Amino acid sequence: MMKRCVNAARLSPSAANLQPLKFITIRKNLKEIFQHTNWAGYLDWEPNEDKMPRGYIAIVKKDGEGWDLDVGIAAHSICLTAFEDGLGTCMLGAIDKEALSDILPIPEGYSLELMVGMGYPAEKAEVTEMDDSVKYYREGEVLKVPKRALEEVWIQY
Ligand SMILES: Cc1cc2nc3c(=O)[nH]c(=O)nc-3n(C[C@H](O)[C@H](O)[C@H](O)COP(=O)(O)O)c2cc1C
Repeated sequence: MMKRCVNAARLSPSAANLQPLKFITIRKNLKEIFQHTNWAGYLDWEPNEDKMPRGYIAIVKKDGEGWDLDVGIAAHSICLTAFEDGLGTCMLGAIDKEALSDILPIPEGYSLELMVGMGYPAEKAEVTEMDDSVKYYREGEVLKVPKRALEEVWIQY
């Protein structure tokens, strides 16, 4: 499964086809890795260790080469591929890059950009129409994620 995710990331579009990224699949030291991630900033909540990801893919980029945009594109390929396999994912940008760089086998000349946490979803999330706030919230057991309306974001030319 993680191999499929990395393969999808590898095949993703890349500016000038420079392909400045490498992908580290992480299946061990999960508790320690988890301590250097931050979750759901709008909620007074963090997943406990029962609900923490069962794996991560760290995206590292060659220093000074290529576009940062490649990172997001590859991350999304990873998320979509994991979803096909029934897994939930969360992109993690609020991470302690220094601490994680000490743990992970990051090749010389590369820097950690983003992590994708993955596992079997422990809860249900639902899209909801946005009123005036981008903040996601809980309604009972369900995580409600406000999205801007189609008319708000769609400009026809
Ligand atoms: C670049 C990026 C970084 C993110 N970093 C974090 C993070 O550090 N912690 C977290 O809990 N969620 C993180 N997220 C997840 C967003 O909060 C989430 O995508 C957003 O609330 C919309 O929810 P949805 O992905 O379920 O539609 C990140 C998302 C992106 C695209």
